[in-house]
Amino acid sequence: MAIQFNPPNLLVRQLMDRDTWTYTYLLVDPKTQQGLLIDPVREQLDRDTSLLRELGVELLYVLETHVHADHVTSAGMIRQQTGARIVYGEAAQVKAIDLAVKDGDKIRFGDYPIRVLATPGHTNGCVSYYVDGMLFTGDALLIHGCGRTDFQQGDAATLFRSVTEKLFTLPDETMVYPAHDYNGRTVSSIGEEKRWNTRLGGNKQEHEFVQIMQNLNLDLPKKINEAVPANMDTGISFDPKRYLHEEFSMIDLHQAWQSLPHSELIVDTRTAEEFGTGHVPGAVNIPFGEEDEHVDELKKYNKVYLYCRSGRRAQTVFADLSILGLHNLVCVGHSGMPEWAQAGFPQEA
Ligand SMILES: [Fe+2]
Repeated sequence: MAIQFNPPNLLVRQLMDRDTWTYTYLLVDPKTQQGLLIDPVREQLDRDTSLLRELGVELLYVLETHVHADHVTSAGMIRQQTGARIVYGEAAQVKAIDLAVKDGDKIRFGDYPIRVLATPGHTNGCVSYYVDGMLFTGDALLIHGCGRTDFQQGDAATLFRSVTEKLFTLPDETMVYPAHDYNGRTVSSIGEEKRWNTRLGGNKQEHEFVQIMQNLNLDLPKKINEAVPANMDTGISFDPKRYLHEEFSMIDLHQAWQSLPHSELIVDTRTAEEFGTGHVPGAVNIPFGEEDEHVDELKKYNKVYLYCRSGRRAQTVFADLSILGLHNLVCVGHSGMPEWAQAGFPQEA
């Protein structure tokens, strides 16, 4: 039998970034050679552009399923090299993209329309893409799991509804291609996930799922402080290092606190409960996750100092607020309240 080098069906290549366990997908219509990439990773730029050249692909689009927190996209660089248009869900509000899509939109490459399904919950801007019996789910639905819902405006109840009321209504044989898998699996199906997904399958109820998600207690992704701001700007132009004062400590904060002018503010990003056990005198409490609601207020200050317990929440708040346009931030990124207490500095409870 002759080997068919030019298959009649949609050509699909699943590619992996081993550092972050991210899958990138290349889809090509073999008749027209027009194609698109889903969720490409910055570190794999050369691999992906070589593949495009080898296969002779005319790349029309780079589709992102959401603003990733664990890796930086190569979308901006691929656009520079190929002229492809960058696509995000409109709720993601990413700057400098070419097309903001919403639920039900279709994007055409060659003879194939790829359909957009809004699937918020992991982040508020998540979308999945469906074409020809294949569903590219990003982090909304992983193989026997799902993306976390504890930052980037994530919400467990919303994710539950996105998956059970939208994705699980697709035919059981629909193939599920996620943005990650940490166990070496590459593809699943809607039927398998409805039955075996440990968080969402087996007819789980919404309150059971919300409880599971509330108790995950995951560490933050190691690249979040770089990845989220960079990805809000197609991966190339935002440099958080321009703003992040990596070496700023609680001892430095003490110096600033001693002669703090009215134009500067100290913000404690721990929970209200932690704040109540003792905080830097005069600091205000904006718990991690609520910073988005205070942007206008924080803009009024020349300088806003952020701290927490270990520095991790303050760094994340720093990244979140930076992408919302605040560049007056100084972050205590590697220590926090215990260091203040240990130094014997005064506290207010
Ligand atoms: Fe994600």
